[in-house]
Amino acid sequence: MNETIRKRKSIRKYVMAKLDAAALDKVRAQIESLTPLYPDISYSIEIAEKTKGMFNVTAPHYLIFGSEEKDGHLENIGFIGQQLDLFFSENGLGCCWLGAAKPQEKEASALPFVICMSFGKPAEPLHRGSADFRRKALTEISEGADARLEAARLAPSGMNVQGWYFVADNGKIHCYRKKPNPILGLMLGKMGAIDLGIAICHIFKESETFGYTREADAPAKKGFIYAGTVVYS
Ligand SMILES: Cc1cc2nc3c(=O)[nH]c(=O)nc-3n(C[C@H](O)[C@H](O)[C@H](O)COP(=O)(O)O)c2cc1C
Repeated sequence: MNETIRKRKSIRKYVMAKLDAAALDKVRAQIESLTPLYPDISYSIEIAEKTKGMFNVTAPHYLIFGSEEKDGHLENIGFIGQQLDLFFSENGLGCCWLGAAKPQEKEASALPFVICMSFGKPAEPLHRGSADFRRKALTEISEGADARLEAARLAPSGMNVQGWYFVADNGKIHCYRKKPNPILGLMLGKMGAIDLGIAICHIFKESETFGYTREADAPAKKGFIYAGTVVYS
């Protein structure tokens, strides 16, 4: 399995010095080279120095993700952002998705704002061993056999809820997210779709060829919403 997926973790303590221009240019180049899940959905990513909001993490830099609001745009942002999470972890930098943070200025997001991510030099260990992942068992989140499911299992999710489900079926993986509880409201519903995009990114990293489609005859899963199917392209 991708070595970074096996050892990454969220970083919440940072060296507060700003990254130098060369390091920030490398981040900008990476932003330009991302692969979307839905190529027809426009998105924006800005680098900012501040964000505001609850449960915030103090960091030298933040990414502000925005998107055109279309069916699948939240999964798309999760999928794109997780490529950056893995890039940071591979390159000696820490990061943390921030579901409750907001940009300081409305205009910090070119397209409607979706979510933030902190990043910078870590002031805590950047990686961890496999015993230090707190995750559900594969049998709780999936059925059928596919080696790529272990990478999805290790994916990060908002408040570590891991509200996803995967059905492996002869090289295809049908992807679902838990129906949001109406009492917990819109925020967690939004997070669940981003989380699923993050887990699909880990499947993408493990796939020799990757395609993602909506299948009319995908099996229904009680309590879950079908999002799409990973296929070999
Ligand atoms: C969509 C999303 C939103 C998150 N929001 C926050 C947040 O607001 N504050 C925070 O400290 N961590 C946040 N996290 C980090 C999760 O708590 C973390 O990913 C999860 O507990 C698993 O831990 P790990 O990333 O170290 O594997 C978020 C993660 C995701 C994927």
